Amino acid sequence: MSAFLELVKNRRTQYAIGNNTELSNEEIATRITDIVRDVPTASNSQTTRVAVVFGDKHVQLWDHILDVQKDVLEGPMWDMMSGVMEGAKAGVGTVLFFEDLDAVEAMPTSPSRVEVYKQNNQANTQYAVWLGLTDLGLGGSLQHMNVGYEQGFDKSVKELLGLPERWELQAQMPFGSIEGENAPKEYIADSERVVVLGN
Ligand SMILES: Cc1cc2nc3c(=O)[nH]c(=O)nc-3n(C[C@H](O)[C@H](O)[C@H](O)COP(=O)(O)O)c2cc1C
Repeated sequence: MSAFLELVKNRRTQYAIGNNTELSNEEIATRITDIVRDVPTASNSQTTRVAVVFGDKHVQLWDHILDVQKDVLEGPMWDMMSGVMEGAKAGVGTVLFFEDLDAVEAMPTSPSRVEVYKQNNQANTQYAVWLGLTDLGLGGSLQHMNVGYEQGFDKSVKELLGLPERWELQAQMPFGSIEGENAPKEYIADSERVVVLGN
């Protein structure tokens, strides 16, 4: 199997994360920066912004998210997701993914394409960073904790971390050392997902 395919297969959602790594924060941040720089974006618009949050700030971030979510999530959803959020705090850090709305609005394309390209730019970055963390031997998960500027949640996150007001929070990726087994994963038939045509 090629090293790339192995990396793709090894990337899994990992909720059980810890702080057992020899990697320095600087090494992790440098790797993420190197990846983000080369992620392709529509018309090379480079709309995505990433904040890599470590240590005290990482714990403060998840305490804040827990505080917000306790008023949003209910019943079994709270039971499940509060465990994920508490688990995140045990990790090394969190990658926060944003879109810079000034850069999004400046994309040289029709308004109807802007939202599509924004989401595609964002997804490319999220997946590349997730693979990059896997490549470093780290695990993590992709979270959408109360994402939505309409709820005002990203405003308080940006205030907490001193980030620009025009950055719109899209997702959170808590990461750390891998401390659990991969959950089983079901796959639909390849033929439903990939069609090969021509000869
Ligand atoms: C667009 C997208 C949104 C996701 N949102 C969440 C989320 O909010 N919380 C979560 O725990 N996992 C989330 N995930 C992770 C998926 O549930 C997970 O990738 C999927 O079940 C496949 O498992 P795997 O990552 O182990 O391959 C998301 C994944 C994607 C691609």
